[in-house]
Amino acid sequence: MERIISPSMLSADFGHLDRDTRMIDESAAQWIHIDVMDGVFVPNISFGFPVMKPIRRASAKFLDVHLMIVEPEKYLRRFAEAGADLVTFHYEATQDPLGAIRMIKECGVKAATPVEVLGELLPELDLVLIMSVEPGFGGQSFMEGSWEKVRRLRRMIDDRGLPVLIEIDGGVSASNAGDLFAAGCDALVAGSAVFGAADPKAEIVKMLE
Ligand code: DX5
Ligand code: ZN
Repeated sequence: MERIISPSMLSADFGHLDRDTRMIDESAAQWIHIDVMDGVFVPNISFGFPVMKPIRRASAKFLDVHLMIVEPEKYLRRFAEAGADLVTFHYEATQDPLGAIRMIKECGVKAATPVEVLGELLPELDLVLIMSVEPGFGGQSFMEGSWEKVRRLRRMIDDRGLPVLIEIDGGVSASNAGDLFAAGCDALVAGSAVFGAADPKAEIVKMLE
């Protein structure tokens, strides 16, 4: 199983966005995580298309776009056009999760949702995002209840023989990365642990070990 690290640009220095994106582009991380917050679905506002575009220009890496916004279906097409390779929306943010998944696929982009009670949606998805912190802010501590969610979801996916990836987001660092991969995660999002490290590239390598 491939081990994927997806550094969250939420913890980058927006005054030096180009520099920080290029630094991640040169690192061992395979994906780049983009946290879009609208101040309605979560109590924080991050950034949107104008900030995503220069990130897309500065790196050819897989762009993993995490929408923490209400009515994601209104903007899915524009995120695909802005260069998203995968779009995650929150199940509770839309009246029609299946419709949103199909719309993402129509745009030629991979579809993901962080819901836990997935049921019939699971075969429609490319990835499930488990939130291991309350969505809205970087730098929070990992919620211990997330271990059980990872194991349960891994079993669900494996029992049904589905090719769905598991990504975990929040409170990830080099100290829990190895155990998270071992528990069944495919991709780890890390914001403050990467950008707060003295040597972010070395930190990413440590997480992959
Ligand atoms: C939180 C975001 C995360 C955040 C993670 O709502 O979805 O992607 O950037 O930050 P850390 O790694 O610092 O917990
Ligand atoms: Zn995120």
